Amino acid sequence: MPAQFMPAARCAARLTTLSATLLACSAQAQRAEVLHWWTSAGESAAVNELASAYRQAGGIWVDSAVAGGDSARAAAISRIAGSSPPTAAQFNLSQQYLDVIAEGLLNDVDSVAAQQQWATRLPQPVIDSIRFGGHWYAVPLNLHNPIWFWSSKAALRQAGVKGEPRSFDELFAALDKLKAAGLVPLAVGGQTWQEFITFYAVLLHEAGPPTYLAYFRDHDARSVDSAPFRKALATFKRLRAYVDAGSPGRNWNDATAMLISGKAGFQIMGDWAKGEFERARLVAGKDYGCAIGFGPDAPYTIAGDVFVLPKSSDKAVLEAQRKLAATVTAPAVQLAFNRKKGSIPVRSDLDGSSLDACAQAGLRAIKDARRVVANPDMLMSPDQVGAVQDVVAAFWHGEQSVADAAKALQQALKR
Ligand code: GAL
Repeated sequence: MPAQFMPAARCAARLTTLSATLLACSAQAQRAEVLHWWTSAGESAAVNELASAYRQAGGIWVDSAVAGGDSARAAAISRIAGSSPPTAAQFNLSQQYLDVIAEGLLNDVDSVAAQQQWATRLPQPVIDSIRFGGHWYAVPLNLHNPIWFWSSKAALRQAGVKGEPRSFDELFAALDKLKAAGLVPLAVGGQTWQEFITFYAVLLHEAGPPTYLAYFRDHDARSVDSAPFRKALATFKRLRAYVDAGSPGRNWNDATAMLISGKAGFQIMGDWAKGEFERARLVAGKDYGCAIGFGPDAPYTIAGDVFVLPKSSDKAVLEAQRKLAATVTAPAVQLAFNRKKGSIPVRSDLDGSSLDACAQAGLRAIKDARRVVANPDMLMSPDQVGAVQDVVAAFWHGEQSVADAAKALQQALKR
């Protein structure tokens, strides 16, 4: 029946159906399922910034959160290799996705990289971790430093600790005071990856960047035989005496909560912990301290997060991946996301002056190439990182001597 003769009611019904169909079609073109492991209070607030920006850009964000980095990455790899990949999946800026790239299981994001000029707007260590053969295989989201020294001002005050430690000797003196005051001196989440963070923080700041890089970047077993490395192993094990019995299995954000409540004095953890302080409305420099290391020129470790985009020839998926990549790397979204994530923007062309005091220290550090070292995930394969983590955990929990731990660390390099 020609439309001009169609009863008004049926015409309205047809229009409703038509607009619903158009909406459904356009929504399908921009539906993005994103698999990630950001499940703590601060992480959820941060990922919601990405989700709302994607929705404002006309997309539908389907949130697939899997608690724990190891579990989330295993789920992502299984689905990418299988028949139901997500639109995007979180990985660390690392070697974790090299295999799926080599197997041709990821789409590149060259069009967005060119449009946003990533080649001149990203730090070189980031470019080296996501561009291969001239193609960009991951969307960079942020820069984290995994090994800040966090402190609770309330706990330090209660224990009579004046100022933040400027050396390991001063740190141990502060830990002794906290112990004497009946507080938990060092809050550690007793999970392998967190014990590993504690280890490489001590190695970097005790033995220095050359020894740290000789082991993690050059995989040079001889680095372990050096006096600085052995001293770092002894210092790391000495920290064990300042950790409470509730540590085994504790999630990192529950350890951060011990500083937020003033029950513990220090935590060595990434600046994703800052997202927890922020959610608790604590103020950097006033309620909690954040130290990159000891002294104004302490070495600064960079890490970060990316989204990889699983292979698809489906036009709707490709459209959603491109929209997602462009959205999460846009300047305003970068600032909103990183402010809540505790990290700093991955683009070096952004004005980060509105970020907090800790972020300002990080932004200063990454401008001095002499201070910047890549974190182990960027320098070793996942298998090697796993082998080293296991050796470190055995040393932390067991009765092994420094000499035996050193031998095991040399063996782990052969993975
Ligand atoms: C890291 C990740 C961070 C942070 C942390 C704790 O690997 O890069 O974004 O969320 O895990 O979940």
